[in-house]
Amino acid sequence: MATKPALATVSIEKYVELLRQLPAEAFDDVPRIEEFALQNPVDPATLERFLCWDAQHYTRNLIDHTDLYDLMAICWDIGQISSIHNHRGQNCWMSVPIGTLRVQNYRVISENVAEHRCEIVPTDVIDMTAERPVGVNPDHPVHSVENRREFNERAVSLHIYSKPFDSCVVYSDEQGTCGEINLHFTTKYGERSPRPARH
Ligand SMILES: [Fe+2]
Repeated sequence: MATKPALATVSIEKYVELLRQLPAEAFDDVPRIEEFALQNPVDPATLERFLCWDAQHYTRNLIDHTDLYDLMAICWDIGQISSIHNHRGQNCWMSVPIGTLRVQNYRVISENVAEHRCEIVPTDVIDMTAERPVGVNPDHPVHSVENRREFNERAVSLHIYSKPFDSCVVYSDEQGTCGEINLHFTTKYGERSPRPARH
């Protein structure tokens, strides 16, 4: 049986050039950017200068910023996992040029950030790879991302956030609590940021 030929990769520089050519309304269209990410898999070799590894925590590395979006690479060592979080009502797309990452989605039953209380329940799971980017469903935007030990390799994901945001709500499903946190970049444009990424 013939196997499907892999799509040709593009450099991260070309990916940015193409993203910058998209009209503003494209970033309101989740399937459109998901298709863009699917059609333009990024060549991992071109990401090297943006990558930064920390044995204690995944790192967030800004690649491009415009009024419309932030593009970042997140580096996940084996076993690293994000908090369960939302996206501040903004759209988010993820693609995974290196490795595999598991997205665990949640449904929010109730949420009161001022009182730090919530009820959320796990729903579906998606394993993202280079062939499978994901546009976050704006109706169900709460999830965690994990480089599971069983995947047994480092992973790098590219995230497009539109519009950019620098805080979000994190949740604990076990404790029924939630709260707002600030987001920081470990590096910006390949240079280490003044503040370390810890949240
Ligand atoms: Fe996310």
